[in-house]
Amino acid sequence: MSIRTIAFFGATGGCANSCLYKTIEQGMNAIVLARSPEKLKGQLEGRKTSREAIEQRLEIVEGDVRDVKAVGKVLENNGRGVDIVISGIGGVPTPQFSLMRPLTMTDPNIWGDAIDCILSVMAHSTLTKHPLLVVISGNGVRNDGPRDYPLMLTPLYRWLLTDIYDDKRRMEASLTKTRPAGGFVIVRASPLTDGTSKGLEVIQKGTMQQPVLGYSISRDDVGLWIFENLVRQQEPSAFLNDEISITY
Ligand SMILES: NC(=O)c1ccc[n+]([C@@H]2O[C@H](COP(=O)([O-])OP(=O)(O)OC[C@H]3O[C@@H](n4cnc5c(N)ncnc54)[C@H](OP(=O)(O)O)[C@@H]3O)[C@@H](O)[C@H]2O)c1
Repeated sequence: MSIRTIAFFGATGGCANSCLYKTIEQGMNAIVLARSPEKLKGQLEGRKTSREAIEQRLEIVEGDVRDVKAVGKVLENNGRGVDIVISGIGGVPTPQFSLMRPLTMTDPNIWGDAIDCILSVMAHSTLTKHPLLVVISGNGVRNDGPRDYPLMLTPLYRWLLTDIYDDKRRMEASLTKTRPAGGFVIVRASPLTDGTSKGLEVIQKGTMQQPVLGYSISRDDVGLWIFENLVRQQEPSAFLNDEISITY
């Protein structure tokens, strides 16, 4: 069986970075879009990633996720294509002068624009290989099913994050409507921490119909869950075209 290649967007963010680290340390290949390759390399060195993994199994394409050419270069992977695409694209929240919508983003359309660019490049690809597309989203984004967060967090999801979540909804809607040929998985995490990994055993997994309700999960463990369930698994069919919530 040939060695798999995983494409990453947003891998200088903690969740995707944790998954990237595991991917290249465990002998798979990665091709990564990064606005700052130096930042990404510094983070991997900080994780004590082996020199062999960085030099032999990692390719970095410098660029922006709204740049079709740069995204195309990643997904094309020198004509070989990729097996899985993981997007942990996100941004920085910032206050705004509104009582009803107190928080916005410094780049308010980043989620929707990023997924639209990735999906458009995939749709125009002439490669025969169709990768699985995994996106990291958040609890509370889907608001037409059972509540997927504890009641106590209602002000967070239904007030503080209202403005920010409009664009995350746009991202999820694009994905579920377009349905890329290789399938997709939406991973909705509860509030993220920078804590150290607690391990796979303590991560609870829920579905749209039966969500798990939790208060937090570390970025490292989001990356661990994605790695173990979607990257290491040769056939992640259990989650195909599904929306999974994860939390402690
Ligand atoms: N905060 C929470 O509690 C929470 C809860 C659930 C889900 N989430 C979501 O989970 C996801 C992962 O979060 P995280 O904390 O691991 O990562 P993060 O810190 O939000 O990282 C965002 C990533 O997106 C990249 N990015 C942003 N704009 C870009 C652009 N125009 N072109 C290329 N790259 C761009 C950043 O690159 P640079 O390093 O170049 O900026 C970084 O790698 C995010 O979507 C986040 O919103 C967050």
